[in-house]
Amino acid sequence: TTILVLNGPNLGRLGSREPEVYGSQTLADIGADLASSVPDGVEIDLRQTDDEGELVGWLHEAVDRGTPVVLNPAAFTHYSYALRDAAAQLKTAGVPLVEVHLSNPHAREAFRHTSVISGVATGVIAGFGADSYRLAIDWLLRHP
Ligand code: DQA
Repeated sequence: TTILVLNGPNLGRLGSREPEVYGSQTLADIGADLASSVPDGVEIDLRQTDDEGELVGWLHEAVDRGTPVVLNPAAFTHYSYALRDAAAQLKTAGVPLVEVHLSNPHAREAFRHTSVISGVATGVIAGFGADSYRLAIDWLLRHP
């Protein structure tokens, strides 16, 4: 089994980006921890892009391959209808999508309180730092 772990804009800057909000681990650190925490035979395919179109394309790939997705849409969470429409196709296809956030957007600025993705996500995990990803993967592995 493969799980796609997709990350949106500025998440490639983790480690140095607002560490008081996002922690001091890089995305590569988080990916390595995730890869070492899953059972044998499970592959974590972790990707990051600052480009909306690339992220949309990766969701199409997940639809076509039936690959479950953990998605941190980053700032796209709050305004990308293109990403939402791509995520909706996963829902139609019955492919699970877990939306994750390192921080708890609801405890932050008002513009972060809206997610255009959540309405088509299977579920949302936010506020647990890198553990948000781990919790999402745990759930996916228990619901194959
Ligand atoms: C984030 C929260 C978003 O509001 C923000 O734009 C991000 C990261 C998080 O993981 O906490 O880039 O998705």
